[in-house]
Amino acid sequence: MNPDTAASPDHRPRVLVTRRIHEAGLQQLGEHTRLEVWDGAMPPSREELLRRAEGCEGLVTLLSDRVDGELLDRAGPQLKVVCNYAVGFNNIDVQAAAQRDVAVGNTPDVLTDATADLAVALLLAAARRLPEAIDQVRQGRWKTWEPLGLLGVDLVGKTLGIVGMGRIGLATAQRLHAGWGMRVLYTARDPKPDADSRLDARHVDLPTLLASSDFVSIHCPLTEQTAGLIDAEALARMPQHAVLVNTARGEVVDQDALAAALEKRQIFAAGLDVTTPEPLPPEHPLVGLDNCVIAPHIGSASQDSRRRMSEIAAQNVLAGLRGEPLPHPVSTGEAG
Ligand code: GLV
Ligand code: GLV
Repeated sequence: MNPDTAASPDHRPRVLVTRRIHEAGLQQLGEHTRLEVWDGAMPPSREELLRRAEGCEGLVTLLSDRVDGELLDRAGPQLKVVCNYAVGFNNIDVQAAAQRDVAVGNTPDVLTDATADLAVALLLAAARRLPEAIDQVRQGRWKTWEPLGLLGVDLVGKTLGIVGMGRIGLATAQRLHAGWGMRVLYTARDPKPDADSRLDARHVDLPTLLASSDFVSIHCPLTEQTAGLIDAEALARMPQHAVLVNTARGEVVDQDALAAALEKRQIFAAGLDVTTPEPLPPEHPLVGLDNCVIAPHIGSASQDSRRRMSEIAAQNVLAGLRGEPLPHPVSTGEAG
């Protein structure tokens, strides 16, 4: 490096990325900014996050970081843009950001297929009791071919209920409709003509969906309206052979009610990629249940998705720093 440049102060905008994300986006950011990446295996503590945000013009945050008025104020008035490395952004106080003229972006679309794939994987795993079966083999408990052992439920021709027909809900429905001939019901703020015409899907209210679906898959964002949406009353509407899948946010489901329903075999099984908190403590009743399959929030965890998420995060932040509209601003009306 030229010693003159090395000696001169670096006036490029400061950007903090709160965990090490895929290198592709970091490279783009590093070319134009003074980049700081939190390299811990765990997220920064609140104190650490507040301290490191000070003086930044851009932040790339994760769903484990709370982005609120306090953080935005600690960052300072020069802060222009926050991009969440996720499609969901319930960890961000969007109103507080708007009041401070801070643009907020997310990384949608590029994780739609990966998340829909995982929803189907969890649905299959829960329906066919796969983790339970695999455990038997691993622990040497499998003795012989069982005529009546580990019986699951079938998928072909069944009814799928999608709670929240956004992009991920639609992609999940497409897979199960095309692959298993499932009939599709869905809830959404408004009917989705695209889903209706392509999948012959039907827009219904939640009680109808719960009572009529063999499989229910949750894809709505977490909002005040959807927190605790699937409670004891909702679970009681589901048929006894039903399987519940959640790849959205843990808070949408009342976990105590779900544990009770699974324990009583009021529904057949659940497949969860999200819980509250994450991780659940090992002694939480859901963790020990044979008919509850829990994955560690890996919906978008494919190599391509995570690379493309990092590229989108970089594009969002660089646009925000230039004062341009973000290519992927958060949209609060999306998956309803
Ligand atoms: C992950 O949960 C995301 O919102 O991208
Ligand atoms: C969420 O934004 C989705 O696309 O389903």
